[in-house]
Amino acid sequence: MKIGILGTGNISEKVAPTLAAMEEIECWAAASRSLPKAKAFAERHGFQRAYGSYEELAEDPQVELIYVATPHSCHYENMMLCLSHGKPVLCEKPFTVNAAQAREVQKYAAARGLFAAEAMWTRYMPSRAMIGETLASGIIGRPTVLTANLSYANFKRQRLVDPALAGGALLDLGVYGLNFARMHFGGGIERVDSSVCMTETGVDGMENITLSYRDGRMAVLTHGIWSRSDRRGTIWGDRGYLVVENINNPQNISVYDTEDRLLQRYDVPQQISGYEYEFREAVRCIREGRRESASMPLEETIAVTEQMDALRRQWGLVYPCELPGT
Ligand SMILES: NC(=O)c1ccc[n+]([C@@H]2O[C@H](COP(=O)([O-])OP(=O)(O)OC[C@H]3O[C@@H](n4cnc5c(N)ncnc54)[C@H](OP(=O)(O)O)[C@@H]3O)[C@@H](O)[C@H]2O)c1
Repeated sequence: MKIGILGTGNISEKVAPTLAAMEEIECWAAASRSLPKAKAFAERHGFQRAYGSYEELAEDPQVELIYVATPHSCHYENMMLCLSHGKPVLCEKPFTVNAAQAREVQKYAAARGLFAAEAMWTRYMPSRAMIGETLASGIIGRPTVLTANLSYANFKRQRLVDPALAGGALLDLGVYGLNFARMHFGGGIERVDSSVCMTETGVDGMENITLSYRDGRMAVLTHGIWSRSDRRGTIWGDRGYLVVENINNPQNISVYDTEDRLLQRYDVPQQISGYEYEFREAVRCIREGRRESASMPLEETIAVTEQMDALRRQWGLVYPCELPGT
């Protein structure tokens, strides 16, 4: 399938070599706001066409799927552009800045019968089922607590602290913790408590989130852009606990008993980078005429985005692109 990349920044640089290594993908076109940048990217990664505007990519009749890889504040507009030209989209996380935007994209894509999905890569990975099967086996008993943290010292990157680009820890990293909790503890949340430290620029620099579930379970999530964390996810039961190394790209799952003895350790299957799974699924869905991915249905994207909306309401964080008249 001929793929187009919209935005030639940091993540596109990382994803492109994976695309080049995938049999089901043809690296077709790269689009940037700058033609020289698009050309350099295309040359570096073996894309056949280079465009100096996103519109030209959307208009290319040969493109079969567009990967949107721009800052958060641009996703809505970029996806609508692609969809309006009849192009299916796989958009980087977070899908949109808020749930209202996500619903509009969902409606627009559905009306045109086009595929749209969030590239929340952990949803598509084999680790998801591995964790699910471990829990279902009963080996740790009844899970009551889930913890997850994801923090990188990347506060110097403009995109992460700029309100105009919808920066902040929650939309960039918190989306992983919330998805980890939702994948393994599901819905049924009764209460959301949080504490936050804001940056001087007015976005969230780090936060702690506690999700209390109606059945008595609890998820405690910490995300931030000021320091490096161990990126672990843990789930605790009455017969033991499991530890996931790196909730951002799980590498292995270790299971311990109540005496901290290691019972089992599962490594994830050999992967190119981990990005291949989301693209493989998008290609399969489009070929099968499906508009949504079963791994990351838009209703799930919207549910997580609503959680982020609610957290931002607690913190009084509104992005400039959400203000009336913008
Ligand atoms: N899945 C993952 O592991 C992962 C990792 C990192 C980031 N991400 C996600 O990927 C997306 C992009 O992140 P990134 O780190 O790649 O961002 P980035 O390098 O700062 O920007 C990506 C590209 O967006 C384009 N762009 C369009 N409008 C822009 C504007 N107003 N300001 C700046 N750039 C603009 C630029 O491409 P052109 O100049 O070519 O137009 C830029 O190079 C985000 O949604 C982020 O959350 C995902």
